[in-house]
Amino acid sequence: MNLILLGPPGAGKGSQGKSLAEKYNIPQISTGDILRAAVRDKTDLGIKAKSYMDKGALVPDNLVVEIVAERLKKSDCNDGFILDGFPRNILQAEAVERMLAQFSKRIDHVINIEVSRKEIVKRLSGRRVCRNCGEGYHIIFNPPLDDKKCDKCGGELYQREDDREDTIETRMKVYEEQTAPLIDFYKKKDFLVSIDGIGGFKDITEKIVNAIVAR
Ligand code: AP5
Repeated sequence: MNLILLGPPGAGKGSQGKSLAEKYNIPQISTGDILRAAVRDKTDLGIKAKSYMDKGALVPDNLVVEIVAERLKKSDCNDGFILDGFPRNILQAEAVERMLAQFSKRIDHVINIEVSRKEIVKRLSGRRVCRNCGEGYHIIFNPPLDDKKCDKCGGELYQREDDREDTIETRMKVYEEQTAPLIDFYKKKDFLVSIDGIGGFKDITEKIVNAIVAR
């Protein structure tokens, strides 16, 4: 099963991607996570990507497309994968089609998670992430036991640089201008299912699974 999770910043792509990856035993490929790890490790990619990410802009397509092309070649993607945060514009969507065609594969489902702007700001401003293992929390909706430490590994929890209110605005604008056109792009191909992203984490996973089964 080759799946794309689409949606605005904070829609729950990362949270749902994790549950679906466990359920279907396929990898979740988050370009945001890969880029943040590169920034943390100060690799060439990370050095190039950091200034774009900090201001909420998209990292140049050539860098991101290359990351995904390399990742999809790995054997753990043979039975399927979940793309979280990629593609983010039409050029990236066309690139992934070309990559998959090389292996006679295609995208099977595109799940579009819909969440209001008000909810997005609430979710992103309350998000905390473990610096060590990347586990995500929310100070109200999914709070850690200790507000400074990760429940899983004890690592330090931090607020993402791009989760500040002014940067959230830029990310929303970038989403509307560059990513939202993908909704029509995938509708025309009959791949798209839209899901209401408001509700409990498990309820939303269930809605996605039901939508996949029904297609
Ligand atoms: P990326 O990391 O992909 O950020 P994003 O798309 O803005 O998505 P988020 O991670 O903010 O949100 P999400 O939808 O995954 O929600 P989550 O589950 O975490 O990208 C970051 C940057 O990297 C980009 O701005 C860009 O610079 C660069 N980049 C990445 N991919 C790129 C690409 N393809 N091309 C170019 N540049 C790229 O949830 C958010 C919060 O809400 C959490 O606290 C969570 O606990 C909470 N929450 C989730 N679900 C619920 C729920 N049902 N109820 C209550 N709270 C919930």
